[in-house]
Amino acid sequence: MLRFFTLNILFFIACSVSAGDDAIPAPLTGARGDPGRGRALVANRQVGLCLLCHSGPFPEERFQGNLAPDLRNAALLTEGQVRQRIVDPGKANPGSMMPAYFRTEGLTRVAPAFKGKTVLTAEQIEDIVAYLVTLK
Ligand code: HEC
Repeated sequence: MLRFFTLNILFFIACSVSAGDDAIPAPLTGARGDPGRGRALVANRQVGLCLLCHSGPFPEERFQGNLAPDLRNAALLTEGQVRQRIVDPGKANPGSMMPAYFRTEGLTRVAPAFKGKTVLTAEQIEDIVAYLVTLK
């Protein structure tokens, strides 16, 4: 609990310092995603693993993470900031332990089969963004 609280505070400080210049305003695919698919992706333990670290409004999911802010906190961010956090969290917080879900540059020790591949597709990122902005 204390750790969660500390992370939250650090995160808010990081946000207020970097607010504004850390967003990707336009959808990666040129179109808005589907919030229903996004919710399923966030809750899926094989795809994004978001609930390893985050909690959120998923009463059906028994074990949820407490290493990161509740996903409802995304309501404090703009849509473009949410997109940026998922594409490459290191932009807003260089020490972030959250994986960059849409980045292929600057990674170390990538297995050959995964070279040049992003963790999620642009469509999946947009579905997740579309879902997270509904939590406002
Ligand atoms: C390994 C742990 C980890 C995983 C897995 C992870 N995150 Fe995060 N996430 C964090 C941490 C920690 C933060 C707090 C800011 C930071 O440290 O970058 C964060 C911040 C965020 C934020 C910024 C807004 C907020 O709630 O504070 C969003 C949005 C977010 N994560 C979404 C996701 C989504 C969607 C997934 C799955 C696709 C995911 N995260 C997977 C650790 C994780």
